Amino acid sequence: MNVLVATEKPFAAAAVNGIREIVEGAGHTLSLLEKYTEKEQLLKAVADADALIVRSDKVTAEVVAAAPNLKIVVRAGAGFDNLDLEACSAARIVAMNTPGQNSNAVAELAIAMMIYMSRGQFTPATGCEIQGKKVGIQAFGNVGRLVGRKAEAMGMSVMAIDPFIPAEKIKEMGAEPAASLEDLYSKCDFVSVHIPATPETIGSIGYDLVSKMPKGGVLVNTARKEVIDEEGLLKALTERPDLKYVTDIAPDRIAEFQEKCALRFFATPKKMGAQTAEANINAGLAAARQICGFFADGCTKFQLNKF
Ligand code: 3PG
Repeated sequence: MNVLVATEKPFAAAAVNGIREIVEGAGHTLSLLEKYTEKEQLLKAVADADALIVRSDKVTAEVVAAAPNLKIVVRAGAGFDNLDLEACSAARIVAMNTPGQNSNAVAELAIAMMIYMSRGQFTPATGCEIQGKKVGIQAFGNVGRLVGRKAEAMGMSVMAIDPFIPAEKIKEMGAEPAASLEDLYSKCDFVSVHIPATPETIGSIGYDLVSKMPKGGVLVNTARKEVIDEEGLLKALTERPDLKYVTDIAPDRIAEFQEKCALRFFATPKKMGAQTAEANINAGLAAARQICGFFADGCTKFQLNKF
């Protein structure tokens, strides 16, 4: 089988070497399409692929149509909003992710972003410490729980909310459950966002929630830009010159955020939450193993679609 790794943002070399070892060791061949800039390059590369490993690369209906041999696609990472699951199902292509494999890298970045903003983006201005502050974790999954544990170790108190985890369980996991999103935003000095981009969550964080934050509140987004209502967030940040926004995914209206918020806003130049050698190796190798397992014995653990 021909396994294609198509990554606009490439994996670390060690991850690619590991993927090759697993794929070739199982008797398959490996093709690489890295740092591509045009959709056409991806469409051409998938033409003879039996399996596909991607990161945030978009696997659209057009990509699926260009890949007549494709049997499995694995998103090496957690969020799978870049996969058109309907198109995959219609073509009987198994779609998977590799949950948890890059969570630590993202959690470390969320903590780093809290400190970066508390210290005025490392300018000499007098900042504040995160110890003694309260962080609210919006979605207590793999990344959110790690952020909570690291925050606690740094002397912060941790509040959390998750639509799929009952309050009792959140308590057992060591965090104070929030009664509602309003409760979380109104009580936390930092809110760290870990929700996926779904029809329910897109545009769900805006003026109403952010303007409830206490004085000096910092919103930290290492999830997806789509979950933010940019208009509402800009309004909250303009009305409240004490609030800050730090994000791993540049907003569409980045110029306005930069102009209106100066040192109260920061966006990484390119999504870098999972951009560590460790996360690349964990997620990339897991993807390769999942593909080999699927071809060897039909294992569909972590399958996201049904058909
Ligand atoms: C994920 O959903 O796993 C993260 O957002 C990482 O995305 P990336 O592979 O594009 O870095």
